[in-house]
Amino acid sequence: MRIVFLGPPGAGKGTQAARLAVLRGVPHISTGDILRTAIARQTPTGIEAQGYVDKGDFVPFEIVLRLVRDRLQEPDAQGGWLLDGFPRNLEQGTAFEALLQELSQTLNTVLYFDVPDEEVVRRLGGRRVCETCGDTFHLEFSPPPAPADCEKGECSVIQRTDDSEDAIRNRLQVYLEETQPLVDHYRALDSLTPVDATSSIEEVNAAVDRAVIGLAG
Ligand code: AP5
Repeated sequence: MRIVFLGPPGAGKGTQAARLAVLRGVPHISTGDILRTAIARQTPTGIEAQGYVDKGDFVPFEIVLRLVRDRLQEPDAQGGWLLDGFPRNLEQGTAFEALLQELSQTLNTVLYFDVPDEEVVRRLGGRRVCETCGDTFHLEFSPPPAPADCEKGECSVIQRTDDSEDAIRNRLQVYLEETQPLVDHYRALDSLTPVDATSSIEEVNAAVDRAVIGLAG
């Protein structure tokens, strides 16, 4: 199973990809997660990426392409992957097609999560993430456990720096200008599988499962 998760910030791509990855035994590869880990560790890539990520701007193309190229060649990605956050514009889409050819890998589909802007703001405003285990929560829809109840150890729940009001507004604008043309491109190629992402997490789970039924992995 090789699937791209595409859609606006806060549409629920990461929530759904993480769950499907466990269910199907393929890695969830999130460029945002890779960048945030690099930033937390203050690696040279992380130091370069930090300013872009905090504001909600795109990290330079060469950095992201190198991260994805390296990650897709790791042993656990040879049987399939769920790619969340890349490609994100037409330039990345073209490079991605060339990379897949080079690696002799075929994309099954692009799952497209569509939600209106006001829902994006609601979801991102309430999002909390655990610094320890990386799990994602929402104050209203999927509340974090009390530290003592966390099955994976002591949860340390924070708000992402790019979930500030200014950064959310910027990310929505960047999405409209940069990513929407890629959505249109995949739609024109008939490579897009739309998922109704406006309903509850459980209902979107079911819609994702229906969309990928029949795909191996
Ligand atoms: P990235 O991490 O990819 O951010 P994003 O695309 O903005 O997506 P998010 O992670 O914010 O949202 P999501 O759709 O995964 O939603 P989630 O499941 O968390 O990228 C971050 C930054 O890295 C970029 O801005 C850029 O700087 C850089 N970057 C990354 N890739 C790049 C690239 N290719 N090129 C250049 N730069 C790049 O859900 C959101 C919230 O809603 C959660 O709280 C969740 O619990 C809740 N929720 C989820 N589903 C539902 C539901 N159905 N109902 C109610 N609540 C829900």
